[in-house]
Amino acid sequence: MTDSLTIRDNRTGREFEVAITDGTIRAADLKQIAVEGEPGLATYDPGFVNTASCRSAVTYIDGDAGILEYRGYPIEQLAEHSTFLEVAYLLLNGELPTAAELEQWTHDITYHTFLHENVKQLIEGFRYDAHPMGMLMASVSALSTFYPDAREIHDADNRKLQIARLIAKMPTLGAFAYRHQLGKPYVYPDNRLSYTENFLAMLFKMSEPSYQADPRLVKALDILLILHADHEQNCSTNAVRSVGSSEVDPYSAVGAGIGALFGPLHGGANEAVLAMLRRIGTTDNIPGFIEGVKAGKEKLMGFGHRVYKNYDPRAKIIKKAADDVFAVTGVNPLLEIALELEKIALEDEYFVKRKLYPNVDFYSGLIYEALQFPPEMFTVLFAIGRTPGWLAQWSELVQDKEQKIARPKQIYTGHRTREFTPISER
Ligand SMILES: CC(C)(COP(=O)(O)OP(=O)(O)OC[C@H]1O[C@@H](n2cnc3c(N)ncnc32)[C@H](O)[C@@H]1OP(=O)(O)O)[C@@H](O)C(=O)NCCC(=O)NCCS
Repeated sequence: MTDSLTIRDNRTGREFEVAITDGTIRAADLKQIAVEGEPGLATYDPGFVNTASCRSAVTYIDGDAGILEYRGYPIEQLAEHSTFLEVAYLLLNGELPTAAELEQWTHDITYHTFLHENVKQLIEGFRYDAHPMGMLMASVSALSTFYPDAREIHDADNRKLQIARLIAKMPTLGAFAYRHQLGKPYVYPDNRLSYTENFLAMLFKMSEPSYQADPRLVKALDILLILHADHEQNCSTNAVRSVGSSEVDPYSAVGAGIGALFGPLHGGANEAVLAMLRRIGTTDNIPGFIEGVKAGKEKLMGFGHRVYKNYDPRAKIIKKAADDVFAVTGVNPLLEIALELEKIALEDEYFVKRKLYPNVDFYSGLIYEALQFPPEMFTVLFAIGRTPGWLAQWSELVQDKEQKIARPKQIYTGHRTREFTPISER
């Protein structure tokens, strides 16, 4: 064996040979390395920083080189030439669609945009100030009760149907959650419109007979959805895969992904960026704020990434999209603070040494705000964009013979067997 690792256990003096495949060793191969009477060797990896959990052919990232590719196509090319629905097809099917395939796919998605009226009632039941991500998470999970056939996860046609349903309904659910918060009547899908136009119409239409969005804003939002469509094994995708590994239906698995995305270290970051910029208030306050970050009092939200350690390729594209949006909407006053903050941070040793660069969330929040989305909606937009990626990864998981129910090990640090103490004696 040449591609192998020889391990010498200094506790016992024994040597073991472990195969190296695709730059990894199998953690299960370490089990054989044991001291008598003790369990075999395991790996300890909180946050999976150096552990591959699956084989995947969906998305490639080279964090050091700043490369992001969906099914081999660079994100820059997809953002420039493609549409979100086309990218969704690519992620799910592995190839770009032909004109006929795209037409059929667009038809399938458009056909499923409406919600069952009881889903609308479910959303109506939330408090007036409910966070739209909470409403989205609950309503996506609830779809599993409307489509019990979704449990047939090993049936390829059935998977295809549920995937189309969910991608089609996400904008409707997101828009209903938004309108609910504002106390505005829900707007039903208009199937004459494109995916992204229809979403904007469901969000913003009032009494006009048909809603006309500025095509430049539609394009910018479509690009944002493309940029968010997949990002290999990120926290929410890992949640979808982990929950999906129990063979539950895709709505329940994606519901879990939405929960993971809600957190401020993941999808909630762009909302946190805006809150941070507002708190800073003026450029004069930036130096004091930066000192606080360096002293470890808080984080500079929208900076840093687990994978990208040079730059986030999505941040570059988004910066350009931001310029296009601001040409329509006017410059966002918070942009001035963001630009100054970025300039200072990129030159400061603290950030340079730790390879902290703006990530996709640093600018997306500013665009969303310019498009008049309230901050609570930012993560909802992220979720709509990420849905094809979650489903492509879920689909891959379901068909992967090597996958098992996710069940990590632990290093137990608690007490061992103790006698129960009656409450009167504690
Ligand atoms: C994204 C993130 C969770 C990645 O975390 P990670 O890969 O685990 O990196 P670490 O937390 O180990 O960070 C390494 C060092 O940089 C510092 N750091 C990381 N992100 C930072 C930030 N945004 N602001 C200030 N310091 C930061 C850490 O404190 C740590 O410093 P230390 O070595 O002195 O302890 C992290 O950078 C972060 O919280 N960023 C802000 C939230 C955000 O924008 N998330 C969106 C991601 S798309």
